[in-house]
Amino acid sequence: MCGIVGYVGKNDNAIKTIINSLEALEYRGYDSAGIAYINDNHINIVKRQGRIENLKKDLNLDINSNLGIGHTRWATHGVPNEINAHPHKCGKITIVHNGIIENYSELKTMLIDNGYAFSSDTDTEVACATIDYLYKKYNNMLKALQKSIKILKGSYALGILCDDNLDTLYAVRVSSPLIVAVKDNGKFIASDVPAILSYTNEYYLLDDGDIVVLKDNSINFYNKELESITRNSFIFEGDLEEVKKDGYEHFMLKEINEEPRVIKDTISYYFDGTKASLMKNIPDLNKYKDIHIVACGSAYHTGLVAKTLIEEIANIPVMVEIASEYRYKKVFYNEATLVILVSQSGETADTLASLRKAKEDGIDTLGIVNAVGSSIAREADNTLYIKAGCEIAVATTKAYSAQLALLSLLALKLALINNKISDEEFNNLKMQINKLPEMIKELIKSEKYRKIANKIYTREDIFYLGRKIDYAMSMEGSLKLKEISYINCVAYAAGELKHGTISLIEQDTPIIAVITDKDIKAKTISNLKETKARGANVILITNEVEKDNYYDEIISIPNIHPLIQPIVTIVPLQLLAYEIAKLKGCDIDKPRNLAKSVTVE
Ligand code: M6R
Repeated sequence: MCGIVGYVGKNDNAIKTIINSLEALEYRGYDSAGIAYINDNHINIVKRQGRIENLKKDLNLDINSNLGIGHTRWATHGVPNEINAHPHKCGKITIVHNGIIENYSELKTMLIDNGYAFSSDTDTEVACATIDYLYKKYNNMLKALQKSIKILKGSYALGILCDDNLDTLYAVRVSSPLIVAVKDNGKFIASDVPAILSYTNEYYLLDDGDIVVLKDNSINFYNKELESITRNSFIFEGDLEEVKKDGYEHFMLKEINEEPRVIKDTISYYFDGTKASLMKNIPDLNKYKDIHIVACGSAYHTGLVAKTLIEEIANIPVMVEIASEYRYKKVFYNEATLVILVSQSGETADTLASLRKAKEDGIDTLGIVNAVGSSIAREADNTLYIKAGCEIAVATTKAYSAQLALLSLLALKLALINNKISDEEFNNLKMQINKLPEMIKELIKSEKYRKIANKIYTREDIFYLGRKIDYAMSMEGSLKLKEISYINCVAYAAGELKHGTISLIEQDTPIIAVITDKDIKAKTISNLKETKARGANVILITNEVEKDNYYDEIISIPNIHPLIQPIVTIVPLQLLAYEIAKLKGCDIDKPRNLAKSVTVE
C-alpha cells in the first residue's frame, strides 16, 4: 500500500539509488510514481502517472544528487494521476507518504482558513501543509514533526525534506511500516526490506511515534517526547536473490515453485518429528478452550481451513472472522479465549486493529506472521513466524501455504494435548509430512493446468464448489483466479447451489470442484451431477481415484492425512489461476487496483 524510499549519502547517485530501491517496492502500489531530489541547493520534483518505468523515461538518472525521497502509489484519496502522485510540496516542506490521514478533511479546512491552497485531492498534501504550518510556527523541524504526530490521525509513514535544511532527510512512523538502514556512506528509509537489499541486509525498526533525522554523516532517533533514543537492528535472513525473478516469467510462478522449500523450512522450524518439539516450540495452548482466528483475504481463508482442522481433529471450537468485521463487532470472549491473527505482512490495518481490540479486552493473542519485526509480530503476546521469505507477487501463494503448514502444526499440538491422535496416527502423519516437499514438486510439474486453462480461459464466469474444508480451499482458489485474471468467479458451498446459484449454470459453464473430504464426498458428487445435468463443464480436483461420468477433467492429488491435505490441495488451484491469467495476458504479479500490503482500512 504505497512504497516510500529516502536516501542521503556522501555520493552523488541518490536518484539512481532511490529508483533502484523504489523498483523493489513496486509490489506495494503501482498507479503512479515520483521522486524529489536535491540538486544545486534546490528540491526538484518529477512525478508520473503509471509505473516507475514511466517516471524513469522522464528522469535524468545521472544528475548529481546526494539526497532525495521517492514514492510508488496505491491511490486512496484521489484518482491515480500526476497531480495526486507523490511527492507533495507545500511551503518549505516536501513529503512522500504511505498510509492514510483520517482527519485530513478537518485539517484541510483549518489550513485553508490559514491561507493554504491545495492542488491535489490527497490526504498527503494536507499532511504536508500541516507540517509546513507547524514548521512556520515553531521554526524547528523536530518540534514541528512532534506536533504533527499529535495532530495527524491515522496511519502513516512519511519521508520529509525541508527547504531550510537541504542536507537532511526526516522520517516519522505512526502505525505504518518504515525501516531505516545504513550502508557505508549511505542512509536509507524504506517501507520494506527489499528496498535496501541491494545495499545491506541490516535494518532498524521504528516504533510508533518515532522520528528519525538522517544526514550523510549522522543518524538520530527520537521518541514522541523528542528524547534521543536507540533502536535495535535486525538482520534480514534471506538475500537479494529472493526478491529477483531468478529466470521465472513471474514472481507468482517463482513463489509457487518455492513452496516445497518454504513448507519444509516452516515445519522443520517448529517440529523435528517429536511431540516434545511441538510442545517446546509452539506456545503453551493448554488453557484455551475457545479460539478466534482473525485475518483478511487469503489469510482469512487459511483460518477457515484451520477451523475445520482444529474443530474436527482437536475438538476445540473455533470462530473465524474477517478482520474488518471483527474490529467493529461485538465479540464474546471468555477467560479461555485465544485470538490468533494471521498475516503475511504483519501490517494489515484491520488485522492489526483486531489484535489491539483483543489486547484492550485483556485477551491472549498469537500472531502468525511472515514479515519479521512487523507491527503484528511485535504487538501480539506471542508470535510464530512462517518461513516464507519475501513474497513479491501481490497474489499470495507460498505465504498462504506456509500459513497452512503452521496452522496444521498448531492443530496437531491441540489434538495431542487433547489426546485425539494415537501414536500410530502420529507416526504415519510424520512420515507424510517428510514427503510433502516431493509431493508438491510433483504436482507443480504437471502440464495439466495449462491444458485445462486453455479450454476455459475465455469464459466470463467460473464457479468453485466444495464442502467443509474443500469449500475453504475453493474460496482461496476462487480469490486467486479473480484477483489475477479478472474473471468473475465465486466459490459456493456445494449444498448451497440449488438455493439460487444453479440458475447461473449454462452450457459449458466451468465448475472447479474440490473433493478431498471422504465423509462428505458423496454429497458433493450429487451436487456436481446436478450441474452436469445442466451443461456444466466440471473440473475435479480430488485425492480419490475417480472413474465416473460427473466430471470432464480430473486433477489427481495425493491422498494424505487431513491435517496436511490442504497444503497439497492448494497447488493445482494456484497453478490453474496462474495459467488462466497468463493466457489472458494479465499483469500477473501486479493485478489492477491492488497492492500487496493493505495498511489502510
Ligand atoms: O499481509 P496479510 O496476510 O495480512 O494480507 C491479507 C490479504 O490482503 C492478502 O492475503 C490478500 O488477500 C492476497 N493478496 C490474496 O492473494
